[in-house]
Amino acid sequence: MQYKVKHLAVIMDGNGRWAKQRGLPRIEGHRKGAEAARLLIQNSHNFGITYLTLYAFSAENWNRPKQEVSDLLGLLGLYLKQELSSLHNNGVRIKVIGDLSLLEPSLQRQIHDAVNITCDNKGLTLCVAFSYGGRAEILRACKALIQKSSNHNLEMSELEFRQYLYDPEMPDVDLLIRTSGERRISNFLLWYIAYAELYFTDILWPDFSTIDLQNALEDFNLRTRNFGFARTE
Ligand code: FPP
Repeated sequence: MQYKVKHLAVIMDGNGRWAKQRGLPRIEGHRKGAEAARLLIQNSHNFGITYLTLYAFSAENWNRPKQEVSDLLGLLGLYLKQELSSLHNNGVRIKVIGDLSLLEPSLQRQIHDAVNITCDNKGLTLCVAFSYGGRAEILRACKALIQKSSNHNLEMSELEFRQYLYDPEMPDVDLLIRTSGERRISNFLLWYIAYAELYFTDILWPDFSTIDLQNALEDFNLRTRNFGFARTE
């Protein structure tokens, strides 16, 4: 089947519950979640998705217990270390959005290296949202805009405003998936999801399989998107 989703965004929720159900520490849920992310990345390419944005660590996640924060930061570092060459060989372009200034310099360097090494790749764009908040992103853009515009020019298009966001190239989200039965946006990609279709599933993120992805993409194919215009059917 030909799928129509070009930009897929995913809130990978339910790692903690997955671990709890098995009597495991939360980090095991995140580790299994990272495996599910690896499978999703492979599948995305095969299913015609060109841009994939994953919510790996929110601005609010800094408030989790110290040990879990440190585990999640460690997992990102490990992920980049283990996956970089295979992602690069498969033509994946890596991007990371969020307030990276809060990360250890060594992790920041690792991220910048991964981004630089893969920046000319022409396959899937994998954007990892880390230390990311949608409101913070918009506020940061406004601050940068005010600093830059000497004449306080209020004639600004949405397209121009986009240039101040973390990733000016990021296209609008077509489909946003959230797992684990929660039905919230949780401060994710606020600017880019204006006309996104939303898909919620009870599956816990570590269990999210190829079939679950296909179900979501098939569901999207059946939706009629009006973008605020009148219905034509
Ligand atoms: C939410 O589940 C998930 C997170 C806060 C972390 C997501 C991270 C990963 C899937 C692994 C890293 C992935 C990459 C690509 C580096 P939760 O902990 O809130 O689960 P709960 O609601 O069941 O407690």
